[in-house]
Amino acid sequence: MVKRPIVLGVSGASGITLTLKALRRLTELGEEVHLILTKDALLTAAYEVGSDLGRAEGFLSHLSEKQRELVTLVKLKDFTARIASGSFLTKGMCILPCSMTSLAAVAIGLSDNVLRRAADVTLKERRPLVIVPREAPLNAIHLENMLKLTQMGAVIFPPVPAWYMQHQSLSDMEEFMVNRILESLNIEDLDYKRWGDR
Ligand SMILES: Cc1cc2nc3c(=O)[nH]c(=O)nc-3n(C[C@H](O)[C@H](O)[C@H](O)COP(=O)(O)O)c2cc1C
Repeated sequence: MVKRPIVLGVSGASGITLTLKALRRLTELGEEVHLILTKDALLTAAYEVGSDLGRAEGFLSHLSEKQRELVTLVKLKDFTARIASGSFLTKGMCILPCSMTSLAAVAIGLSDNVLRRAADVTLKERRPLVIVPREAPLNAIHLENMLKLTQMGAVIFPPVPAWYMQHQSLSDMEEFMVNRILESLNIEDLDYKRWGDR
């Protein structure tokens, strides 16, 4: 049976440490990932994490060699990329983090780069699309776009901390969020402490 990859889209919003954690978690679990970043995602990543992330290849240096083999880097303007076509079978897509720009583009079907096209494909093929929007406060345009996408079947999953879990570090809180996000993508075998676990 062909193993379906996950599409991980990264746009220029804050929260790149969540992207890194998701990429690590997915590849630790042996999931194949097609990784696509916008130009502003690279700018944000370099600012938030380190200048090595100013290039897509920098994301691979945060992985082991075995994990790296599972990642395909996709160019933003390469419309011949496999993820730009619905006939390429995937498990779904996560946009993590999702800027209000990318959110708006996906909500109106504007597929002028491959991240947006892949999201459009995911929606048209009725596959899971998990959008992790990062903005605060939200205006009516943001909310309308999120409503539209929810009505189309996407999951809007803001990166909201679970204070009730009493995490002792920001990193633990982020790990929890990432596990919850990946669960929305139907990723199985996520072994992490949930509410009620001892
Ligand atoms: C350091 C930094 C942080 C940003 N954080 C956000 C954010 O959290 N949410 C957002 O919608 N835009 C944010 N932006 C602005 C986006 O990068 C900008 O709107 C851009 O058009 C996004 O384009 P993209 O979706 O193609 O990556 C940020 C920009 C910078 C430089």
